[in-house]
Amino acid sequence: MRSVKLAPSLLSCDFLRLGEELRSIEQGGGEYVHVDVMDGVFVPNLSFGLPILAAARRATNLFLDVHLMIEAPERYLADFAAAGADGITVHAESTRHLHRAVSQIRELGKRAGVVVNPGTPLAHLQPVLADVDLVLLMSVNPGFGGQKFIPATFERLRTVRSWLDALGSPAELQVDGGVSAANARELAQAGATVLVAGSAVFGPDGAEMGLRRLRESL
Ligand code: DX5
Ligand code: ZN
Repeated sequence: MRSVKLAPSLLSCDFLRLGEELRSIEQGGGEYVHVDVMDGVFVPNLSFGLPILAAARRATNLFLDVHLMIEAPERYLADFAAAGADGITVHAESTRHLHRAVSQIRELGKRAGVVVNPGTPLAHLQPVLADVDLVLLMSVNPGFGGQKFIPATFERLRTVRSWLDALGSPAELQVDGGVSAANARELAQAGATVLVAGSAVFGPDGAEMGLRRLRESL
C-alpha cells in the first residue's frame, strides 16, 4: 500500500478558533489542509472564500489544498494563488475550458488538480490526466459535510489508479466525502493517496484526536 496523506476539511472546523484548529491539525499529523470554496451556484451551498484562505495562510505552513466548487473557476485562479493556495483543484463540470484551467494553475506555480462528481463519467478526466498533480474523486455529491459515502467510489478509485499507473504519473489520487475510520483502509487499498475528512476529524474531542484515529485505522 502507498503512503497516505490526511487532508482535514476546514468546512467542519470552528472558524472562531481557526488558528487553534490549524495547530491541532499540525499536532495530529495532518499533511494537507483541505479548503472547500462554494459559490451557491455550482453546488447548493455557500462556504467561504479568499479572506479565510489568506487567514489560514498566515497561520500555518501546511499545504493548503483548495477545492473550488464554483462556476467558471478560471475567473479566480490568480486570486486563490495570491491568497496562499499551494494546490488548486477544479471540477471538470464547472468549466468549458478544463485544459486551460489546469494549465493556468501550473503557470501560477501551484499544484493543479481535477475533480469529478460521483455522477460524472471518469472519461472526462482522461484528456487532462497527464497534466495534473492531483485527481480528486468525489465520494458524495459536493456541497455539504457529513454526508454518507457512496460505495461505487471504490471501483472508480481502482480505475483511475490503473490509469495513473499506466501513465507512470506521480499524481496524488484524492477522495472526498464520507471518509472515516470505517472506510479509510479500504480507500487506501483501492489506490487513494490523500483522504479528505471533515466531520470524521473535527469531532467533539478535536482534530488532533480525530486525525490520530483516522491514521490508526489505516
Ligand atoms: C463536500 C466537501 C468536503 C466535505 C467533506 O462538498 O467537498 O470536503 O467537507 O466532509 P465530510 O468528511 O464530513 O463528508
Ligand atoms: Zn472538498
